[in-house]
Amino acid sequence: MDMELPSRLLAVQHHQIDQGVEGIVDGTGEPQALAAALKLLREHVYVEEYVLFPPLAGAGLTMPVFVMKREHGEMWPLIRGLEAACAAGVAAADLREDALMLLQRLKVHNPKEEQIVYAAADRHESAHPDAPLLQAMAAARMPEDWVCALAPH
Ligand SMILES: [Fe+2]
Ligand SMILES: [Fe+2]
Repeated sequence: MDMELPSRLLAVQHHQIDQGVEGIVDGTGEPQALAAALKLLREHVYVEEYVLFPPLAGAGLTMPVFVMKREHGEMWPLIRGLEAACAAGVAAADLREDALMLLQRLKVHNPKEEQIVYAAADRHESAHPDAPLLQAMAAARMPEDWVCALAPH
């Protein structure tokens, strides 16, 4: 598989995020690893919503992009709640229930995203060498107070 594809980079992040969350679910991981995975997840969602989704929605993927954003919004309170719990020093065993809920949502979200949205991102990348998504993704910096588009108020 080519590392120089948006799909590759983003799927590697999915895997890294899953590992941090799974460690808490199966009892082998530490809250610090979960906190790192959650930060990566927020940055990942930012790159998707800020860099990746707008050109793809503009190219006709309106509904899949909307579904992805809705699912990000559904995950957001779990992400923030778990981050706050990690920061407050909550024990790994007491993070398990919410980590499992997040993992279940990721297991539904990520395969659809990879098959539909990332595949379209790769096609977009080869069709628009003048506006490389990979470069824009690498340059993106999430503001600390950024909130995903469809997070509940
Ligand atoms: Fe996503
Ligand atoms: Fe993703």
